[in-house]
Amino acid sequence: MTADAESFLRIVGQRRLSGELQVHGAKNAALPCLAASLLTDEPVRLRRVPEIDDVSRLLDILSGLQVESSAADGEVELRPAAMSAGSPPDDLAAALRASFLVMGPLLARTGEASCGAPGGDVIGARPLDVHLNGFRALGADVVTSAGRTTATAPTGLRGAEIVLDYPSVLGTENLLLAAVLAEGRTRIINAAMEPEVVCLASMLRQMGARVSGAGQHTITIDGVDRLSGADVELIPDRIETGTLLIAAAITRGRICLTQTRADHLKSLLSKLAEIGCVVRRSDEMIDLDAVAGVFQPANVQALPYPGFATDLQAPIAALLTQANGTSIVHERVFENRTQHLDQLRKLGAKIVADGPISVISGPSPLDGAVTVGTDIRAAAALVVASLAAEGESQVSGLQHLARGYAALDTQLRELGAEIEIVNGGDTLGDRSAVRPPAAES
Ligand code: UD1
Repeated sequence: MTADAESFLRIVGQRRLSGELQVHGAKNAALPCLAASLLTDEPVRLRRVPEIDDVSRLLDILSGLQVESSAADGEVELRPAAMSAGSPPDDLAAALRASFLVMGPLLARTGEASCGAPGGDVIGARPLDVHLNGFRALGADVVTSAGRTTATAPTGLRGAEIVLDYPSVLGTENLLLAAVLAEGRTRIINAAMEPEVVCLASMLRQMGARVSGAGQHTITIDGVDRLSGADVELIPDRIETGTLLIAAAITRGRICLTQTRADHLKSLLSKLAEIGCVVRRSDEMIDLDAVAGVFQPANVQALPYPGFATDLQAPIAALLTQANGTSIVHERVFENRTQHLDQLRKLGAKIVADGPISVISGPSPLDGAVTVGTDIRAAAALVVASLAAEGESQVSGLQHLARGYAALDTQLRELGAEIEIVNGGDTLGDRSAVRPPAAES
């Protein structure tokens, strides 16, 4: 066992959350926007970048492609003038799924790109066919061998109509990143509509790209010869926002989150209201009050945006253990995103699972337990459940949480939770410096 595996969050449950917090910028917007720096010679500045391990690792990958960067206070300056062809080191590629996002820009700018098998959460098969078929449609030769993908387009990419088999988020982003420098018009049909895709498209437009339709089913791109730099503020992290709201709800608390985007969370907010929380919102603020009333059971289906976010499926399952009746949670995006269930059962949850469908009987009194998070959102769900449990819980698997949450422990502590890291720095954010490189996580 490594020193890293021994660190855990110690949580004493049943502390009501209350107070006001600003949320961080979005992990899933930061990653494609960082990759977009490969498309220009000019400096790129990103603001509101979360200090998480996935960002550090992508910056390391960019550094290997001669994109210099400096980061401070949530701002990242990228200097890609000397950018060169290359491939992410295999260990970094394997540490996060978004490593594969260098493929589109490298292919577009240098005519060649290569990447080892990208990692990410182990939540079922995560094929790359949407990316690869799209690159082929744009005129690239694509070969995959022993997990490594190599794409070449010596005479450049040509615009094409690309129909995605599935509205993959990173697939859409990778093709967008490639098509902005392709010759002629590209249409991406059945594109992902996530707000993070819209954020990337808006950055690309600022760089001089001609992109329309982002946030809708079809994105149209007219290729240009070159792109300039950019200065972009990332959108708020809707998954961090949602996790905090669910955490407040399970403690019967009342919190107000600011500098967020209520319109990016319509599915969650309507579900929280259905369960029995009082939700008040303006454009950039969400106030959740769960102090009174009985929680009602609910049916939740995780779907592509604007459906209920799969990244909030595990946390809301934790909340539904406290609803008065039978809830059903159906994971319809990933084939195996139910690894948190066994761990929730250790805390006392009553859940019967049949493949992607979980039947949750509540309310179940939860008791403190020792649990292990096996991916980012599973770990978040265990933190949420532990906040409601009687007595002390321990949640390990913090290397997963540190990939995607900038300071979940600190935020929860500020809101009144009794939570601390044991054996791993003062906060989750401190852990990047001490953590050994992650294996597939
Ligand atoms: C992104 C998010 C992740 C979120 C997910 C779904 C980032 C860095 N990560 O991951 O947090 O959980 O969207 O909202 O933005 N698929 C294929 N072929 C492909 C690609 C994907 O069949 O080529 C399938 C996957 O197996 C999965 C589904 O599409 O069943 C969704 O995957 P996708 O949208 O690609 O997720 P990511 O972009 O990897």
